Amino acid sequence: MKLIILGMSKGLIYLLKPMKLFAYTTKFQFLRRLIIQFTAFIDFILSFLYGQNEVMEAHEKVYKGNFIFGHGVMKTDYDSTFDEIQKPSMRTNHFMGIPVVSGNEVFVVNSPLISLGEPFRTVARNHINETLFNEDFYKLTYDDVNGKCARILDEWLADDNPENITKMRSVSTRMVIYMLQNMDVGKAISEKVTAAYLKHFIQLSLFKNYLPIATGLMGTEKKIKKDAFYPLIKMGVLPSVVDATLFAAMFSIGTLFAKCVDYLREHGIEYNSLNLEEKMKFVTEVVRLYPTVTTTHRILEAPETVTVAGKTLNLTEGDEIVYPFVCANKDKAAFECPHKIKLDRSEQDYDKVLSWSKGAHACPAKKFSVLVTVVMLDALNSKTPLSTVDYKGKIL
Ligand code: HEM
Repeated sequence: MKLIILGMSKGLIYLLKPMKLFAYTTKFQFLRRLIIQFTAFIDFILSFLYGQNEVMEAHEKVYKGNFIFGHGVMKTDYDSTFDEIQKPSMRTNHFMGIPVVSGNEVFVVNSPLISLGEPFRTVARNHINETLFNEDFYKLTYDDVNGKCARILDEWLADDNPENITKMRSVSTRMVIYMLQNMDVGKAISEKVTAAYLKHFIQLSLFKNYLPIATGLMGTEKKIKKDAFYPLIKMGVLPSVVDATLFAAMFSIGTLFAKCVDYLREHGIEYNSLNLEEKMKFVTEVVRLYPTVTTTHRILEAPETVTVAGKTLNLTEGDEIVYPFVCANKDKAAFECPHKIKLDRSEQDYDKVLSWSKGAHACPAKKFSVLVTVVMLDALNSKTPLSTVDYKGKIL
């Protein structure tokens, strides 16, 4: 089935390519907007059918480099990505140039931190640095996370079906809240809010922009608050922790965990033979090959040109340049054997992985997310050998 979708998607990408290039070169701006509205909708559907990283890699192949996707122009080479994502710039609430994460509703503070403009952006980042991501947070070790979360992990393993993907995600929810705020919300609440968040996040992503009446009728905007945010807020979990957990941590760590299990099999790696350092490198390699936050964005404040499929596109203020990490992370100019999981790369090479971004917006939880993932992999592996777990590419 996946192969049929893949074949059809590739055909569609070929068909849409001249239309998209025309849109970016015509002098008729309305025509451009009209075409891009239409093609962005097709791209939106493809990303759901096919997977975000997968659809962007398919575009890169068809365009042989930079490409057009959604409302953005995608740059794929490592060097430009590395330089340009560090510039403090306005992001959007798009992922991959498409409105897949439906803006404010998916955050209890009603706004995505990365998309805030100045002066609020600096105030917000300073606030989370002071309250959550302080010096002690950056010093956390495997033993700290494993020791502190022992009860959470034991209760997870006592479950009949700990490998169930939503239960696994709810463990990351519970662990992250505990590590950030020293507050254990309990298994039942963690499972309830995680399931509610996932369900309503998907509904918002699917319908909010293209069929808002659907979320209105399902009551999604209200239910995400009632069933996911406020049960945590009532217990005293800080709003910034709710957002750092449900949006930033649970999704990324849960997807990364499932991908690690898949890639062990796919790349023929025996988990039990790895030491701690190798496990951390393995997780970093997985997130290099399969970035769980798939892109980052810049809204242009001055004209720039980008070459796409041999054509020079003149972008102007307000246009969006997108950086699909999966492309930069597999650039052979930056990484030797870029498609392989290698546990003997240099420290500089692991540091070059762009999946946590770089510069002003860089993820504060880079090391922490690897630690939590390894602790969870070890825990599940102690009960159910990871080689017997199969998420079949499922991410939800
Ligand atoms: C595999 C795990 C994770 C990955 C791949 C990841 C990736 C990213 C990326 C790429 C960005 C920056 C986006 C940009 O430049 O526009 C980001 C920002 C952020 N991440 Fe993560 N993240 C992960 C886990 C986490 C966790 C566990 C937390 C919280 C405990 C977290 C909290 C944040 C926050 C608060 C920001 C916003 C930073 C800012 O805008 O200044 N992330 N993350």
